[in-house]
Amino acid sequence: MQTLPLADGSSLPAFGLGTWLSEPEVVTRAVRVAIELGYRHIDTAKIYDNEDAVGKGIAEAIAAGDVTREELWVTTKLWNDCHAKADVRPALEASLSRLGLQYIDLYLIHWPVALRHGLARPKTAEDYLAPADAPLAETWGAMTELSTDKTRHVGVSNFSAAKVAEVSDAVGKTPAVNQVELHPYHAQNELLASMAERKVVVTAYAPLGSSGRPPGLRREDETRLLEEPTVIEIAKAHEVSPAQVLIAWALARGTSVIPKSTNATRIAENLAATKLVLTDGDRARLDGLDRGARYVDGSFWCTPGSPWTLESLWG
Ligand code: A2P
Repeated sequence: MQTLPLADGSSLPAFGLGTWLSEPEVVTRAVRVAIELGYRHIDTAKIYDNEDAVGKGIAEAIAAGDVTREELWVTTKLWNDCHAKADVRPALEASLSRLGLQYIDLYLIHWPVALRHGLARPKTAEDYLAPADAPLAETWGAMTELSTDKTRHVGVSNFSAAKVAEVSDAVGKTPAVNQVELHPYHAQNELLASMAERKVVVTAYAPLGSSGRPPGLRREDETRLLEEPTVIEIAKAHEVSPAQVLIAWALARGTSVIPKSTNATRIAENLAATKLVLTDGDRARLDGLDRGARYVDGSFWCTPGSPWTLESLWG
């Protein structure tokens, strides 16, 4: 299994299982199947509401002897309502308790957006904390003070290069990982170059275009990445699936990638993509699809009265 070097000399399994929108009833089995097949990296988050079910799958796999805890990489994420310094450690401890784990491998600030404590999502403008009242550097500082007995590494998600620079310079410690949306329609080459300079590993979420998003989070006119003709042509040439082409592209660029699936056949298919080698020509054609188009565009943080705009969120 391909690994990526982290700045501290340790390494991250490049390929993993995403679990956003994986229902608790099915995710235990999905995690169990994935680990049995050879997955060594599992990604979840407090807001996914499935940490306990993910943890159950991990516990079952360890009990069955498929893997040891040390062989697995587990990531979870701090939700937006716990950005205050005093809330960060209790939030990690609550995640550990739900996961049934003594430690995780990576804890990420899920979004640069801060909400009032106790809220999953904002309903009114008052539910947001203004960036000046909840400085990202303070949250990042609290993350870096977490015990390595409880989280081996800390990092960020949905952070622009400017925000990574801001918190790194303010605190004097750089995130190990930045997890962002990445796929051929949204290649983020500048962000990748900037993260490489700082030795920040980048993890690609929504690598297949996140086609399972609920209607409220989807634009009616959006182009489905898995139906992109170029992706389909390359898949046909290699006798693989479009999803496999997208996963191989992500790995070939040196990013970590966490396709989500709760379907055993697709979980296996996605793992098999780690063996697919694209040609330089394939890669160039896929690189050429970039149009700066996000599926998870963050507009849900820019509701009326929010302190955030799309420019301030991604800039
Ligand atoms: P399912 O869980 O039923 O397999 P992303 O990782 O970009 O967020 O995409 C996840 C979506 O893609 C989910 O709806 C998932 O559905 C689907 N998916 C996962 N693997 C494959 C695959 N190999 N082929 C087609 N769709 C897939």
